[in-house]
Amino acid sequence: MSPRQFPESFVWGAATAAYQIEGAASEGGRGPSIWDTFSRTPGRTHGGDTGDVAADHYHRWREDVALMSELGLDAYRLSISWPRVQPGGRGELNPEGVAFYRDLVDALLDAGINPVVTLYHWDLPQELEDAGGWANRETAYAFADYARAVARELGDRVEVWTTLNEPWCSAYLGYASGVHAPGRTEPAAALAAAHHLNLAHGLAARAIRDELGEEANVSITLNLHVTRPADPERPADLEAAHEVDLVGNHIFLGPLLEGTYPVELRQLTAHLTDWSFVRPGDLTLIRQRLDVLGVNYYSTNYVRRREAGAPAGGTGGHGAGAASPWVALDRVEFLDPAGPLTDMGWNIEPEGLYELLTALDNAHEGLPLMVTENGAAFPDAVAEDGQVHDADRIDYLHRHLDAVARAVEDGADVRGYFVWSLLDNFEWAYGYAKRFGIVRVDYDTQVRTPKDSARWYAQVAATGELPA
Ligand code: NOJ
Repeated sequence: MSPRQFPESFVWGAATAAYQIEGAASEGGRGPSIWDTFSRTPGRTHGGDTGDVAADHYHRWREDVALMSELGLDAYRLSISWPRVQPGGRGELNPEGVAFYRDLVDALLDAGINPVVTLYHWDLPQELEDAGGWANRETAYAFADYARAVARELGDRVEVWTTLNEPWCSAYLGYASGVHAPGRTEPAAALAAAHHLNLAHGLAARAIRDELGEEANVSITLNLHVTRPADPERPADLEAAHEVDLVGNHIFLGPLLEGTYPVELRQLTAHLTDWSFVRPGDLTLIRQRLDVLGVNYYSTNYVRRREAGAPAGGTGGHGAGAASPWVALDRVEFLDPAGPLTDMGWNIEPEGLYELLTALDNAHEGLPLMVTENGAAFPDAVAEDGQVHDADRIDYLHRHLDAVARAVEDGADVRGYFVWSLLDNFEWAYGYAKRFGIVRVDYDTQVRTPKDSARWYAQVAATGELPA
């Protein structure tokens, strides 16, 4: 790799999410979320792990802000726990919850770190799930009310509002494969959930701008899938990859950026739903001005056309042995990824990030992009010197940042990069077994130790220069 220089204005950040780091699940007036219920259900998470304590960020946030400051970060992407600020998902806000985020955001601003706030990173208030969750249209309206209330409370301090994080996961892992909360396996409900999440985004964008003014910056973060045909010469494999694009990407990009669901997507899923959950006016509501599109990227998929009658195969890296999250794709086979792999079993293919950013730039000219997550879990070892020499993570970050730099050089308007994650944390169904942090968390003592990757990243952030 050649050395690369990022633009002066490029934002260097790190990301986390509330349920993955906060802990204090029943403190400060917080209500239960679907992840409390799910993780406390035997057999749902690795080793029965829950987010009850996690990285105890709720009590240690001052220390964590100091750490970010030492690392010289420009920005911190955090999420607000809906049930912490609005315990039942409706009605009055919980003042203690609001105060927690206000203090956190103020401390970040005092440290010169820009807070990039996500309103929904998967912790739906349990009461809303009891009323049908994201399969119920009402949840979208409840989300918009919550977004408006938070904007009212923190609008003078937060510059960019991200409505949703990875609605693909909320819809398909939550309602189709069931490996995420609420653990339902109802393909038709998953498609309804995807639409209601889109609607929630649109309604929330309107509510935020209604509250703060038209110029308020709104964003959404998607995990777009880079899917390759097993045999690029085989039309059936190309078709299979295209189907993944429809169900995985265009179900969000279509309504968000073009105001429509592709006809092919409706045809492909017609045996599951008649799409009557899309009401007149919804598509106009969903297509709101996007000031920046957040892109989370980790790896790529390889697929081939399964012959009729052949047994079902893998899930594309989303939970071994589980039902497939890929509704309506019975004839798409996800190949086991070839190495090198991270500890998640995901392949390492930085070129996919370059392709994704440049393809988005080509398809939606002038759309500002932000890499809101990228990073890797590796089985970190603590060395004799008490440090974590995570050369594999440095290499992963280095090669992906090189891909980002090339995309910028080739004209994509990528404004910044957030490493996932600042801290080791609760990796959902994988519990604490997978470590993504650039800072190690010892869960017995809650001691934080910056890994070598943290020091390496701090240096890149300070200079804007990627070494060769
Ligand atoms: C995406 C999610 O937003 C985040 O919560 C998760 O921990 C990472 N990917 C790694 O799987």
